[in-house]
Order: sequence, then structure tokens, then C-alpha cells
Amino acid sequence: GAPVEADIANLEPGGLLRVKWRGKPVWIVHRTPEMLASLSRNDRNLVDPTSEVAQQPEYCRNATRSIKPVYLVAIGICTHLGCSPIYRPEVAPDDMGPDWTGGFFCPCHGSRFDLAARVFKNVPAPTNLVIPKHTYLDETTLLIG
Ligand code: FES
Repeated sequence: GAPVEADIANLEPGGLLRVKWRGKPVWIVHRTPEMLASLSRNDRNLVDPTSEVAQQPEYCRNATRSIKPVYLVAIGICTHLGCSPIYRPEVAPDDMGPDWTGGFFCPCHGSRFDLAARVFKNVPAPTNLVIPKHTYLDETTLLIG
């Protein structure tokens, strides 16, 4: 499949943009400073906080799993059985528990991921979500793939 361009000029802080690449949903999330600050609080509750076994390009093997920390780019397919998780950026909504700092919830079997697409412990999904190869063509244009 050919790489896909995404225009992120109108992606507001806290927002999520979906694009399709090779038939797969790719998410681009504009993370707020609060969202970025929440990430390190999750580390002790994660299966693979430093993304040792996770799939991502080498340039995204870092604390925010990104090139520019404000933008998360991830493949929106659960690493359990392939459902597409739901974006739940709200902090601690009633049904997500007191430790929830926002992220993604898979409705199929309840896997949870944080805002760096890292999987929480005690859910069926074994690994963090995949980060696809990507690059910035300019300030507001991403090339995925
Ligand atoms: Fe997501 Fe099973 S497919 S939890």
C-alpha cells in the first residue's frame, strides 16, 4: 500500500483524527499538556511501559512513542483479536476506574490502552498498539507509511 497523507492543521488539542492506511484505521491524537503529563503516572500499571516488545519504528521507542510528543500516531487495531478500540480521553469517567488517565478502550473484551497506546495490565491484549512508520512533510502534514 502507498503511504497516505494526513492534514492535521485543524486537529484541535484533545482531538482524534482517523485516516485509513493499507485498509487499517490509523489514529492521530493531538495530545494536550495534561495528557502528556498523565503518561508517566501509568507506567507502573502497564505491561510494557518502555515498549521493549511493542512494534514501533526505532524513532518512536521513547516515553511518548512519537516523533513530536504532541501527536500520537497509532494503528487503531486491538492487539488481542483485532477490534478497534474507542477513544476515551476523559479522565476517570465512572466506569473506567480511579486510575484511568484517558486513553482507548476496546469494547470487545475490555482491553485498555493509555494515551501513548500502551496496554494496561490484567486485560486480554498482550502488547501495546502498533505505531506505524510516519514522517512530517511540514508542520501540518503527516505522511503515514
Ligand atoms: Fe480488543 Fe479482545 S479484541 S480486547
